[in-house]
Amino acid sequence: MADPRLSRRALLTAAGVGGAALVAGGGVVAQRQLTDNSDESDSTRVPFYGATQAGITTPAQDRLHFAAFDVVSDSRDDLRDMLREWTTAAARMTAAAPAGPVNDNPEAPPDDTGEALGLPASRLTVTIGFGPTLFTLDGKDRFGLAARQPKALVELPGFADDALDPERSGGDICVQACADDPQVAFHAIRNLTRIGRGTVVMRWSQLGFGRTSSTTRSQDTPRNLMGFKDGTNNIKAEDTKVLTDHVWVRGGEPAWLEGGSYLVARRIRMLIETWDRASLLDQELTIGRVKDSGAPLGAHAEFDKVDLEAKGDDGLPVIPVDAHIRLAAPAENSGTRILRRGYSFTDGMDERLGQLDAGLFFLAFMSDPDAFITLQHRLGRNDALNEYITHNGSALFSVPPGVQPGGYIGQGLFA
Ligand code: HEM
Repeated sequence: MADPRLSRRALLTAAGVGGAALVAGGGVVAQRQLTDNSDESDSTRVPFYGATQAGITTPAQDRLHFAAFDVVSDSRDDLRDMLREWTTAAARMTAAAPAGPVNDNPEAPPDDTGEALGLPASRLTVTIGFGPTLFTLDGKDRFGLAARQPKALVELPGFADDALDPERSGGDICVQACADDPQVAFHAIRNLTRIGRGTVVMRWSQLGFGRTSSTTRSQDTPRNLMGFKDGTNNIKAEDTKVLTDHVWVRGGEPAWLEGGSYLVARRIRMLIETWDRASLLDQELTIGRVKDSGAPLGAHAEFDKVDLEAKGDDGLPVIPVDAHIRLAAPAENSGTRILRRGYSFTDGMDERLGQLDAGLFFLAFMSDPDAFITLQHRLGRNDALNEYITHNGSALFSVPPGVQPGGYIGQGLFA
């Protein structure tokens, strides 16, 4: 019987010859697609390079793959090299090119895993952030970065109603991959994880299947799993002044984060079965908006002004004192605002209870984590929504500014 290894080699050689013949025979396009399917005219490409990282004010895509990693190497050089490689690979993948250039060497694993070959860019964005533990872990300065840790980048405080699972919380580095095609988002996380092997391990991850925010005025407001329009009063990409004041870090504290942002991630499980038994009126009083139209209670259309002063015939506030939109409103929180960019998720079912394990994977960007802390202290204590949700994952990351070609994400940290 033939040696199986030999026959596999023979097969590969034959494939190699076949590939060459293809090129010679006018199959140039097919051959090129095996190594690089990027296409300048692909209108689904979101530029990777820029002053800020993509994936923040980018119109929210439909799908999410989020991953938090821990650094397992104690070498500063390994960390920096990986960030360089991640940047190159992310720039390539967001342009629908394979993660790396060499995909036809029969003797080595390809630089790209292959499942996104031939797919358009699908508006893929890759956004990278650094958690507090990257700078100091148990008092240890593993990478000589402790002096660069932003003062505001510390573990979030506990909030009333938290039920956090440490295995779904924290992380040294995060990658938020958003795309309109789940396979493209998965491909990005998979290839970055592969490239990071030996330097990082994945700590936890979350898939999201539907956006729960709109981040530009041209987008329709989607609905979250409670069936309510979500994102109506969000900060939009057009609100440049609000972005400057509430989303981008200014004032050079620290310098490497100037023009970046902070990202809060919370896995918020919805107690769907309980919610589904609540009356429509209860649901609307809980949120403070009309379920169908999205209008604030007492108003007519989705984008009508939220009138927190309005009283009904009974003398009570039309938008209840414990309604979600009242407690989260800037007017009730000294003008605090955040850019929400979350996704609906389901991880199947909770075997223990025989209930859906689903909810909202809350992602929000802000110039100071204190914005989230202020809001969540208030919501955690008083929000009528608490009867229907539990927060079971939490993380905070600093998100460095964007890069230009030749640079890499986080470069300022190592300067
Ligand atoms: C599962 C959890 C949550 C659900 C289902 C939910 C749902 C909603 C809905 C339906 C709206 C109204 C539409 C809109 O303006 O976007 C809203 C508004 C808002 N939510 Fe949430 N939310 C959740 C968690 C949170 C958390 C954790 C925060 C922040 C700590 C937050 C902050 C806000 C803010 C700032 C607004 C806008 C208020 C305004 O300016 O009118 N939400 N949310």
